[in-house]
Amino acid sequence: MVSLNLNGKTAQFDVPDDMPLLWVIRDVAHLTGTKFGCGMAQCGACTVHVDGSPLRACITPVAAVAGKAITTIEGLSPDASHPVQRAWAELDVVQCGYCQSGQIMSAVALLKAKPDPTDADIDAALSGNICRCGTYQRIRAAVHRAAELAKT
Ligand code: FES
Ligand code: FES
Repeated sequence: MVSLNLNGKTAQFDVPDDMPLLWVIRDVAHLTGTKFGCGMAQCGACTVHVDGSPLRACITPVAAVAGKAITTIEGLSPDASHPVQRAWAELDVVQCGYCQSGQIMSAVALLKAKPDPTDADIDAALSGNICRCGTYQRIRAAVHRAAELAKT
């Protein structure tokens, strides 16, 4: 049994200690916004926040994050009103969408650390998030737009 604080709610999960956090999030908690891509910490599709920092849920044993604050894409806002989500919608960033939860979670963490990131900051912070559709230019523009929206 593992106790997790998931999107602000604490609950007990009857899972093995070494089950990847991503499995618990998707298959047990049924929060399917976080995606499985590579399973090897290579693509970023599974990015969530743990105590405010981005983390690859696919390679993280669930017991390692017991009692920590875990945020998934569903926990950013109840109605997609987070500035990063608004910027993504405004600039129509998404193509197939598969990578985008991870991109957004990395972008949110970046903006928390650097409210006015440069292009280089964005490229560095999101370099571990792969987009097979090649939406990188729109992602970069949307991060800048989210930085503006966060100040309004
Ligand atoms: S699924 Fe976790 S990094 Fe690719
Ligand atoms: S939008 Fe298709 S993988 Fe990024």
